[in-house]
Amino acid sequence: MKIAIPKERRAGEARVAASPDTVKKYVALGFEVVVESGAGAGASILDSAYQEAGATIATDAAATFAAGDVILKVQRPLAEELPLFKDGQVLISALAALSDRDMVKALAERKVTAFAMELCPRITRAQSMDILSSQANLAGYKAVLDAAAVFGRGIPMMMTAAGTVAPARFLILGAGVAGLQAIATAKRLGGVVYAFDVRPAVKEQVESLGGKFVEVDPEALKDAETAGGYAKEMSEDFKKKQQAKIHETLKKTDIAICTALIPGKPAPVLITEEMVKDMRPGSVIVDLAVEAGGNCPLSEFDKVVVKHDVTLVGHGNVPSRIAVDASALYAKNLLNFITPLVDKETKALKFNWDDEILKGTCVTRDGQVVHPALAG
Ligand code: NAI
Repeated sequence: MKIAIPKERRAGEARVAASPDTVKKYVALGFEVVVESGAGAGASILDSAYQEAGATIATDAAATFAAGDVILKVQRPLAEELPLFKDGQVLISALAALSDRDMVKALAERKVTAFAMELCPRITRAQSMDILSSQANLAGYKAVLDAAAVFGRGIPMMMTAAGTVAPARFLILGAGVAGLQAIATAKRLGGVVYAFDVRPAVKEQVESLGGKFVEVDPEALKDAETAGGYAKEMSEDFKKKQQAKIHETLKKTDIAICTALIPGKPAPVLITEEMVKDMRPGSVIVDLAVEAGGNCPLSEFDKVVVKHDVTLVGHGNVPSRIAVDASALYAKNLLNFITPLVDKETKALKFNWDDEILKGTCVTRDGQVVHPALAG
């Protein structure tokens, strides 16, 4: 069986879906691996590194897609890539399947068996396959560095002969995977870190990283989490109390890192224009939720803008800004997904369609859209 890794063509995407390390493992599992020339360039992986790991190099996208029984990608296919798929091919990728339903339909029409890795269930067995976690963790780290890079002051307290520099004060909004890494990174840089989330379990996690948890209404938080561990949309009364608390905290904050998301819904607005106006000149807001509409309505997708003397950083696709590590971890997630599917005797992929992980991720099969979340 052949695995093929095309170069990512979506604008701003520097990651790649396989690393020399995972290529070696695929070869050991009995696969042949074909990598498109230049596929690793954005992640500083040369064609020669893939060749040394046992892959062959294909000259262009057409040759790469034609070579593979299984296609590994980072981003959902572009319209111009769709005709390159063959009947019965397997695609394993992040697909943004819940938002780009037309693309999912097109994959079904091309008779591709497609797995949307962003839908991987968050169960213990699937932790090593969880692309949302591996990429969000790096995004949380990078968000703090992006903030530091545009902040006109230092982060740690510095005592010098010329005077003392005060430490920067952070407010991390949303303390899931990205937010917790942002807290850890801001602490490592010497910042004073406050954090807020609606899920009560988070308080202890924030404190264990040395952050201070901003309390709003502990009673209301008791009902803020779904059985799956995600946040729910909060009541109007809670939102008012939360806004007042965030407003007050932001007046003393230098850098706000926004990571709050509600699956399947627009991101909650947590920092209003009024609050931005009350921040100190030179403050920074990094809005990691910008692709879902943003936690601050003033942030602009894929732009760094200054409004009311506050710098708003709205980079899209932040994991791609740390493409070497993001690719290595993403590639490992895919390897961990594929490894249990390999039939030891035939060395081909064998799908047990009753498996929770396959049911959770498979979006198209036998010419049909099959995922329950995409039905209708
Ligand atoms: P996410 O990316 O969906 O959201 C980020 C954070 O924003 C969450 O912590 C959420 O509670 C928070 N948020 C939402 N609305 C908010 C509001 N109005 N104000 C403040 N904060 C708000 O979440 P992520 O990072 O993907 O993780 C969600 C949960 O899943 C966590 O409990 C995490 O520990 C869990 N998880 C479980 C895994 C597993 O068991 N395999 C793997 C990864 C995460």
